[in-house]
Amino acid sequence: MESMTFVLFGATGDLAKRKIFPALYNLYVDQKLPQSISIIGLGRRDLSHSDFQEKVKDSILDFSRRLEHEAANMGEFLDYFRYSTLDVNREEDYQSLLELVRQREKELHLEENRMFYLSVAPEFFETIALNIKNSGLGQTNGWKRLIIEKPFGHDLQSARELNEKLSRAFEEEEIYRIDHYLGKPMVQNLEALSFANPILQSLWNKEHIANVQITASETVGVEKRAGYYDQAGAIRDMVQNHMLQILMMTAMAKPKTINAAEIRHEKRKVMESLRPLKEKEVKNDIVRGQYISGEVNGQKVQSYLEEPGVSPFSNTDTFVAARLWIDHPSWTEVPFYIRTGKRMKEKSTRIVIEFKNKENQKYKNNQMNPNLLIIEINPNENISLQLNSKNPLNNGKITPIRIDFSNNQISLGVPEAYERLIYDAFNGDSTFFAHWKEVELSWEWVQPILHVFENNLVPLHKYQSGSYGPAASDSLLLDNGFKWWPDE
Ligand code: BG6
Repeated sequence: MESMTFVLFGATGDLAKRKIFPALYNLYVDQKLPQSISIIGLGRRDLSHSDFQEKVKDSILDFSRRLEHEAANMGEFLDYFRYSTLDVNREEDYQSLLELVRQREKELHLEENRMFYLSVAPEFFETIALNIKNSGLGQTNGWKRLIIEKPFGHDLQSARELNEKLSRAFEEEEIYRIDHYLGKPMVQNLEALSFANPILQSLWNKEHIANVQITASETVGVEKRAGYYDQAGAIRDMVQNHMLQILMMTAMAKPKTINAAEIRHEKRKVMESLRPLKEKEVKNDIVRGQYISGEVNGQKVQSYLEEPGVSPFSNTDTFVAARLWIDHPSWTEVPFYIRTGKRMKEKSTRIVIEFKNKENQKYKNNQMNPNLLIIEINPNENISLQLNSKNPLNNGKITPIRIDFSNNQISLGVPEAYERLIYDAFNGDSTFFAHWKEVELSWEWVQPILHVFENNLVPLHKYQSGSYGPAASDSLLLDNGFKWWPDE
């Protein structure tokens, strides 16, 4: 791998501590870091290089999955790190940063490849990107790359404005937009599952699939993020990005070649075929909810409106379910259902593919379950296929059986989402990053929903904490003769 400089804005923040430093360390232990690398952390606070290295070390001790190597290698790893104080608005600070970057490039004989990771609030993206350009940090003889994380805008217009500003400093090919769901092994596996298995490939269309259900339920509430979440809601926090990304990965057609450009091209086609919603359709096809008090995992929990920092009159959605239609010949009349919510009964991200059941009438006295392909993404990684089989203990009655494959035994050794994504960005592989077009098309689809929610044109269903969300979300499926799987 080419030598490089990794510049981390927001190096004293929570994401750096919990995810980025441990990911870098795990890559180091797995020998997946470039042989020569300089890592420069930036923050507002004054810190010496060694204080900063201590912070990095603490975060690894607390959060890395690879501690068995701690004693032997930590010193060498920490020596990659330097710190520079930076106020994102002060041009002089970017000059000091440039000096440090150059000094380390010289000392370590690095190529001028520079990666800038903005682990900061999105309102700073634009300022930082422009300062990288104006300070000369972005003028290199090697490559430059920018990594940013959602939220990419608050709605379609702000997303476009942000992108326009970023594109003054970076080309689209240089921007790596993290959607951490795209770093999850089972999401990355979707492409292999559908395209590397002729059996499934031949079934992956409207002839055989009755409907697709994508669930991302969480047991946590708003936690300490009310300031952000109360303005965002589940629609911006989960649907616009993670849920639509999973939808794209599930519904995309087989790319001509398995590479970043082709995969992203096919994903974009899914979004272009997604039937747009008008106000009336939002009323029919979208359900929004908000949790009230209840019990989750045996613990009593308060309602959303009682959470610290939430306005007592808030209409923010903590649950969204939707029925989507993809107007593409492969998917005509196949409903895709998505739902996501906080304070639900269980933590589970999964995709259920329900197959059509044309043979049912042949077993008149025996109501058969449909065949299901269940892909569990999080917290378990599992693929199971539900088939029907005669049960010898029950007079040969046909009952469902499951064929299971679980990744869980190996998952301790499996790189986490941030490791995979940072590694891909080091290698210039953008397959599992969100292209601007995907982001824009997602906002376009979501925009009418935002309008309807903001103007309170649909009911806000209250649902009990610890439940599967409002009953209205079951009706979305019942309308078409379906139900959420597995049985709830
Ligand atoms: C984040 C959202 O993007 O994803 C959070 O902002 C949510 O609200 C989280 O809790 C869920 O991620 P995961 O990996 O735990 O399913």
